Amino acid sequence: MKKIPLFRPNINRKEFKAVENVLKSKQLSRGPCVEFFEQEFAKFVGRRFAIAVNGGTSGLDICMKALGIKKGDKVITSAYSFIASANCILYQGAKPVFCDVDSHNGLIDTNKLRQIISGKIKAFLPVDIFGQQYDLSELKKSDLPIIVDSCESFGVPPQAGALANVYGFYPNKQITTGEGGMIVTDDEQFADKLRSLRNQGFKKTKNYLTEIDIGFNFRMSDINAALGLAQLQNAKKILRKRWKLAHIYSKLLNDIPEVEFVLNMKNTNISIFNIPVICKNRHIRNCIVQEFEKHQIEYSFGFPPLTHFAYIQKATGYKPTDFPNTEIFAQNLLCLPMFTDMSTKQVRFIVKHVKQGIHNAEN
Ligand SMILES: Cc1ncc(COP(=O)(O)O)c(C=O)c1O
Repeated sequence: MKKIPLFRPNINRKEFKAVENVLKSKQLSRGPCVEFFEQEFAKFVGRRFAIAVNGGTSGLDICMKALGIKKGDKVITSAYSFIASANCILYQGAKPVFCDVDSHNGLIDTNKLRQIISGKIKAFLPVDIFGQQYDLSELKKSDLPIIVDSCESFGVPPQAGALANVYGFYPNKQITTGEGGMIVTDDEQFADKLRSLRNQGFKKTKNYLTEIDIGFNFRMSDINAALGLAQLQNAKKILRKRWKLAHIYSKLLNDIPEVEFVLNMKNTNISIFNIPVICKNRHIRNCIVQEFEKHQIEYSFGFPPLTHFAYIQKATGYKPTDFPNTEIFAQNLLCLPMFTDMSTKQVRFIVKHVKQGIHNAEN
């Protein structure tokens, strides 16, 4: 592991104890922890129902299935995201209709969105990329269902108007269950469908073996749920700490014109996932990462735009040049480390080497 990792889950005694208790109980799955985690999570985000699943991807997948998205349908999503938000549409045989993004923050560009909304669209799947919330106002003007990919934005209250939000708990997220995800909704019927789909299509109220439709095993285990519950109990503190660290980063990087800080720190509807910055050019980014390599600082270049994947090009017919702002946003992106127990000293150390990299680039 690098001296400063890109992410690191915040695991304390409470988490060890919670998992140990489940192991001791011998009820490793379909026990009380999953239901309790769901109840507490729903309360935390302010939604009536929460449905735990074994990953953000499976959560998005069963949302598409519960909506009845099928072959030939079209769903609008962002051209800049993790592949899961396009895959969950492709799994249904449907077509993701990509929307170009704002070249400064990677969120769907609302002007471009207006140009691609048509009668053939069956649903919207906006993405809260890097913990930033996409404003749903424009989407709410239509009657189509909105499923928000909130995998990176745990901590900001979901906006009104979405049918469901899907969260992810991979260890790079604000809170983790190891692997796991959670869908939240206020719609009871939709929640029932999701519960059934994640558990082989079984309906809880009927005889256990009465299958109502084809379903899946996307259940979360009690071990993962116990970990999630322990994390959730600490969530307010975790989220505050990450904000504080992000503020230090933004202050220290503020006077460096060679890197643009992506997150708008005046916007409180952001949950800190990692610290994306846009370098002025590729040479500067290369010099910064050379410094990072030398000093064992882990980094990432974010996600490649979805149109860069050959199978997505084949399935959609899109090419990278169809989404120019997505290309601009992604080409010099650099994600800096963020983890809850990071120290101010570590942030200063990283910024020092950002500056050194820029200095090296210019000399
Ligand atoms: C934007 C986005 N969507 C979907 C996912 C998929 O979540 P998971 O890895 O839990 O399946 C992720 C996870 O990294 C993500 O960042």
